[in-house]
Amino acid sequence: MKIVSDIREMQQLAGHYRQQGKTIGFVPTMGYLHEGHLSLMRRARPQCDILVVSIFVNPTQFGPNEDFERYPRDFDRDERLCREVGVDVVFYPTADAMYPQPYLTYVHVEKLSETMCGASRPGHFRGVTTVVTKLFNIVQPHIAVFGQKDYQQSLIIRQMVRDLNFDVQIDVAPIVREVDGLAMSSRNKYLSSEERQQALVLYRSLTRAEELIREGERNVDTLLQAMKTVISEAPDARIDYIAIVDAETLEPLSTVRHNTVIALAVYIGTTRLIDNTWIREKDGKLVGQLVSPRQ
Ligand code: PAF
Repeated sequence: MKIVSDIREMQQLAGHYRQQGKTIGFVPTMGYLHEGHLSLMRRARPQCDILVVSIFVNPTQFGPNEDFERYPRDFDRDERLCREVGVDVVFYPTADAMYPQPYLTYVHVEKLSETMCGASRPGHFRGVTTVVTKLFNIVQPHIAVFGQKDYQQSLIIRQMVRDLNFDVQIDVAPIVREVDGLAMSSRNKYLSSEERQQALVLYRSLTRAEELIREGERNVDTLLQAMKTVISEAPDARIDYIAIVDAETLEPLSTVRHNTVIALAVYIGTTRLIDNTWIREKDGKLVGQLVSPRQ
């Protein structure tokens, strides 16, 4: 496995692989890898000849009062995990190399970037789309895999790829959860053991919404209220947003229907966690991704 920090070297390597007719698969990450990231790599592995993983805590996607400085980092462990999964190249640039001064160019996807996480974290998606554009230009992937946990991010990237004619196929992989349902996230590390227990309200509130939908509830206000009731069971939980939206446009809905996403961001103490589920019609019934169908 190669570890490449130099941008030019990574670009030349990617060009060389492409000249040899090799397919490049790419999983961009901010490191501190967990099973969720590894699932993206395992999904990409059989779809490409060369698997590239980037590890870069991207400063432009953090707000001034956010956790950029304390975002967990452990390159040695990440390197070992990448080797175990069969990664070919780890791209590990510095912030100075990615954003040489003066840095003046950003990519912004309108509308989709302004709602939900974008409303709570102004500039966040501009940072994401800018760095992903740069990474695509450097790694030159044929296919890139993102996680559904960041549902809004994956939708914005798809839109960007369409709008800017990137020749990259975007694949979105399902959320990986702990056995008790908590969605895997590098930020789970911030939780105390008491908060870790309370963090289950995100999963439970989504599960509750899915159960109600299965029972025939379609009214968004009723579902929102039910989710809020579940979350209020955690004393240290503070809702940032709960959104029940069209899966393509992220427009708020008043009635749940096929292709609805239920997404939420909740602070547990000072840690902001996100999660979501996708409601689709199957065999004439609306079903989500969490509650298994009754036999
Ligand atoms: O999802 C993430 O970890 C980041 O937003 C990404 C896509 C690696 C860009 O920094």
